[in-house]
Amino acid sequence: MNLVIIGTGYVGLVSGLGYARLGHRVVCVDRDVAKIAKLDFGEAPFFEPGLPELLREMQEAGRVVFTTDLASVINGADVIMIAVGTPAKPNGTVDLSAVFDVAEEIGKNLEHEAVVITKSTVPVGTNRKVLEIVRKAMTVAGRVDLVDLITVASVPEFLAEGTALQDFMKPSRIVIGVDDAVAATLIERLHDGISAPRVVTSIENAELGKYVANAFLATKISFINEIANIADLVGVDVTEIVRSIGLDPRIGSHFLRAGVGYGGSCFPKDVSALQQIAGQNGYNFKLLSAVTEVNNRQREIFVQRIEERLGNLKGRTLAVWGLSYKGGTDDIRESAAIDIVQRLFARGAEVVAYDPVAMVAAQKVLPENIEFAPTAVDATEGADALLVLTDWPEFREMSFETVVTHMLTPLIFDGRNFLADLHLKDLGFEYYGVGTR
Ligand SMILES: NC(=O)c1ccc[n+]([C@@H]2O[C@H](COP(=O)([O-])OP(=O)(O)OC[C@H]3O[C@@H](n4cnc5c(N)ncnc54)[C@H](O)[C@@H]3O)[C@@H](O)[C@H]2O)c1
Repeated sequence: MNLVIIGTGYVGLVSGLGYARLGHRVVCVDRDVAKIAKLDFGEAPFFEPGLPELLREMQEAGRVVFTTDLASVINGADVIMIAVGTPAKPNGTVDLSAVFDVAEEIGKNLEHEAVVITKSTVPVGTNRKVLEIVRKAMTVAGRVDLVDLITVASVPEFLAEGTALQDFMKPSRIVIGVDDAVAATLIERLHDGISAPRVVTSIENAELGKYVANAFLATKISFINEIANIADLVGVDVTEIVRSIGLDPRIGSHFLRAGVGYGGSCFPKDVSALQQIAGQNGYNFKLLSAVTEVNNRQREIFVQRIEERLGNLKGRTLAVWGLSYKGGTDDIRESAAIDIVQRLFARGAEVVAYDPVAMVAAQKVLPENIEFAPTAVDATEGADALLVLTDWPEFREMSFETVVTHMLTPLIFDGRNFLADLHLKDLGFEYYGVGTR
């Protein structure tokens, strides 16, 4: 099939290359000229494991091209996919301006029958609005005879940054929200080669279901963080609790690692969007208010724990490992690590940070006085404490025998409970996890 994907970010680029790998001819469109130039040159615009290799392979095979000019490519497309950002507005509602701008562009330029798929995460009713905008723009452009040949569908994306390529190729499910049986079959064919259950459902179910999935995962994280806080108070170990409850198949162990809370470009905004959707329909979604509140409080509790141990943080040197919102990505949007560094800086601490790939992005948002170290070990030189804020696998591989000799005080605060099983106490470290003993 010929596929045009608009929006070449974490979702649009990964899925564009994924569809190319499935054998489709894909055009990726973005309004960001620098990003498209980079991609055209064969360079990945962000860090994602396996992305540069797949990009090269698909470019060499001639199955993917990049452009900023939607008008020049749209008329060869069987499927047009919208994958632009849907960030939160300051009041927590979803900013759909990019989605609607793209819908207008599609309508202005489309001269044939097509299926328009929204992959972006959008509130209930958005796809119908997209259809309305596309049809209106087509009518204005004098193509009223074609408006009934346009179908919309919601096919939300469930990939996670850091494992995005494998998530695309091996998802837990493919949700197809559509009214039209012909379009449903076409979308199923688009995914031929991916072995995963298909959930063909209404557009509205698909739209809301994406928010529900993220809100539920965020709820699990806040839930276990509250248990971790109680565990600290009563002197038990949250990781032991998870080890036992996780064996209950009704509960499972995924997303039950206590720590400094969730971040990223999806969970915070999607939790808040679902709350807004509920509110706009007259329902007070109390549980989600608590999920957000617990998540924000978790960062402050972590900082307070450091203060309890070290006293006033003014002038203290703190090594920070990890700035991205989780391991495997350079994405720092809503990163708990960035927030915690800012809180420490505001208390007068001298922060020396290291992240394998997110330092360039972090430098743009953190205060100038934050120091960045060339290696993880360098960051610990003369430190009063080491803070682990992102679960980068390489942090587990560090030579802690070397780290202990660099630090002023061999003190570790592990905000991800990521090193809990490494027996760091045996090496002379004082180790604090979140809810661990
Ligand atoms: N990042 C994730 O892990 C993830 C996972 C699942 C779903 N989602 C959802 O997918 C959507 C995209 O997320 P993302 O993280 O890929 O966003 P992103 O910010 O990485 O990328 C969005 C891209 O859209 C482009 N764009 C914006 N307006 C445009 C326009 N009018 N014309 C052309 N291009 C335009 C931007 O330049 C940018 O490159 C969001 O709705 C998000 O909630 C994200």
